[in-house]
Amino acid sequence: MCGIVAYIGKKQAYPIILKGLKRLEYRGYDSAGIALLNNNKVNIYKKQGKVSNLEEYANTLDTSGNIGIGHTRWATHGLPNDINSHPHFSNDGKLALIHNGIIENYDVLKKELINRGYKFVSETDTEVLVHLIDDILKNERISLAEAVRLALNEVTGAYAIVVLSQDNPDQLVAARKSSPLVVGIGSDNEFFLASDATPIVEYTKQVVYLNDEEIAVVDINEGLKIVHLSNQEKTPYIQELELHLEALEKGGFEHFMLKEIYEQPRSIHDCFRGRLNAEEGWVALGGIKDYEQKLINANRIIMVACGTSWHACQVGEYLIEDLARINVEVEYASEFRYRNPIINENDVVIAVSQSGETADTLAALELAKHKGATILGICNVVGSSISRITDAGSYTHAGPEIGVASTKAFTAQVTILTLMALKLAHKKGTISESRFHTILSDLEAIPDKVKKILESDDKIKEIAEVYKDSQNALYLGRGSSFPVALEGALKLKEISYIHAEGYPAAEMKHGPIALIDEEMPVFVIATKGNSYEKVVSNIQEVKARKGKIIAIVTEGDVQVKELADHVIEIPDTDENLVPLLATVPLQLISYHIAVMRDCNVDQPRNLAKSVTVE
Ligand code: AGP
Repeated sequence: MCGIVAYIGKKQAYPIILKGLKRLEYRGYDSAGIALLNNNKVNIYKKQGKVSNLEEYANTLDTSGNIGIGHTRWATHGLPNDINSHPHFSNDGKLALIHNGIIENYDVLKKELINRGYKFVSETDTEVLVHLIDDILKNERISLAEAVRLALNEVTGAYAIVVLSQDNPDQLVAARKSSPLVVGIGSDNEFFLASDATPIVEYTKQVVYLNDEEIAVVDINEGLKIVHLSNQEKTPYIQELELHLEALEKGGFEHFMLKEIYEQPRSIHDCFRGRLNAEEGWVALGGIKDYEQKLINANRIIMVACGTSWHACQVGEYLIEDLARINVEVEYASEFRYRNPIINENDVVIAVSQSGETADTLAALELAKHKGATILGICNVVGSSISRITDAGSYTHAGPEIGVASTKAFTAQVTILTLMALKLAHKKGTISESRFHTILSDLEAIPDKVKKILESDDKIKEIAEVYKDSQNALYLGRGSSFPVALEGALKLKEISYIHAEGYPAAEMKHGPIALIDEEMPVFVIATKGNSYEKVVSNIQEVKARKGKIIAIVTEGDVQVKELADHVIEIPDTDENLVPLLATVPLQLISYHIAVMRDCNVDQPRNLAKSVTVE
């Protein structure tokens, strides 16, 4: 996700755009840039890092001009650095463009444009757009808007763009497909454009939400015009903004954590987009393609991580061992780095980290590298330290995760590890074709199944109300649901400050069952699968001691329903994919309990989003 802002009117554009970019930093903060048109010249200022870096740099320069575009970046193609920052510009410097989205056919377009003599300076997919529009403008005597329309007809992917042109000083041209874009209508032909309404709301409440494949032309003389990619003119549908600024940044949700829980259908889809195709029967993790054989021949795959990411690794261990029959060991990075571990060169060490900056995980990787192991990474932040020191890796593409408690990053990490397990198993031949296809189809269906679980949020909130004053809680699961129990317990601990423990369900009789009484809520993942009957027995053990059972069951379950105090049904799926679904109700339960206890959900006490210190 990136944030885009643009302005045209009678005011100075720079302060409006800069403030707007700060409002959109929650969408990405790898780099920021602004292009301003002044005295018939396009001036571009862009810097790696937060908007404040750009501000410090640009404030020393001439930032005059009443028309401009601005961008704050979440890197997808090309490292976060000055040259890859937006706006991107044409070779003659007369066109500047900002973009939120992914151009999927950029490599084909780039090759064609290079053959036509265009020079590329960045590693981004976005840069092809500005040269493509410039190429069409040069070859045909048409308007800027028409050139944009023709260019976008050649593009596949997602985009929200705004184009600034030195030869068109009275207008901006914008367009969207799959990435959001809002037009704010000020007074006297003054216009604002942005990824959402947060940079706009303080200036005007009159907005038009562009629809997919629509192009907007905002002109200080002609006003607003909207055309479809097919060239059909559209009547702008002007709406009155109701939300307030604070709510807008959270997309209307009360907290970033809830927004991110609800983003999971999209983030899981974005994570496997272009990486699996059930119909054609393939999985592709491009980032580690050259290391597949190394992983298959590995003596061990050692996974190092912390916290929630460590739980994702635990799920990965179950999947990779079960499907690909490769020995996996999961280590707390903080322990691994200090216990003088035995590592040799045919070990593959994989670090899993949302931030890519966790000190212990980074140090564990450096130790593994020093001892000659192959090191891979699974990160959410492009260009992060861990992604930079590893031999290769995969990005989770979950988008910025602002809430300190990790939610969508966890399910994205599990998605990548599931894809890895499937890829290795298929390549090794340790999985039948039919099972491979079944799991692929079930994986493609996960986003819709998560959506279905989110529809039970009100019911889950009612359950949270019952247990919000508990002093302790237990979470139980078997197989790959055991790490889900650990993750559920961590979520409750870190945002509601209730003491909670996750256990393998069978471990109850080895001590923890002594804790059970009528004050103890026990969350049990009791979905259909190999160990279902055994989990039912564990539930009966808890019930016999008056424990309260909140069970996560497969839709249509009857047996556990008769035993549990509460059940939350999740859609049926392949047993290996249950962690992607069973986690969601546990995230919601923790969230609602924390809100009911007036805890600071997005910034829990004592915690930081990224533990970059030891
Ligand atoms: C999870 O909710 C916590 N915020 C924390 O355990 C986190 O997962 C851990 O610090 C690891 O962070 P990383 O994924 O950025 O390395």
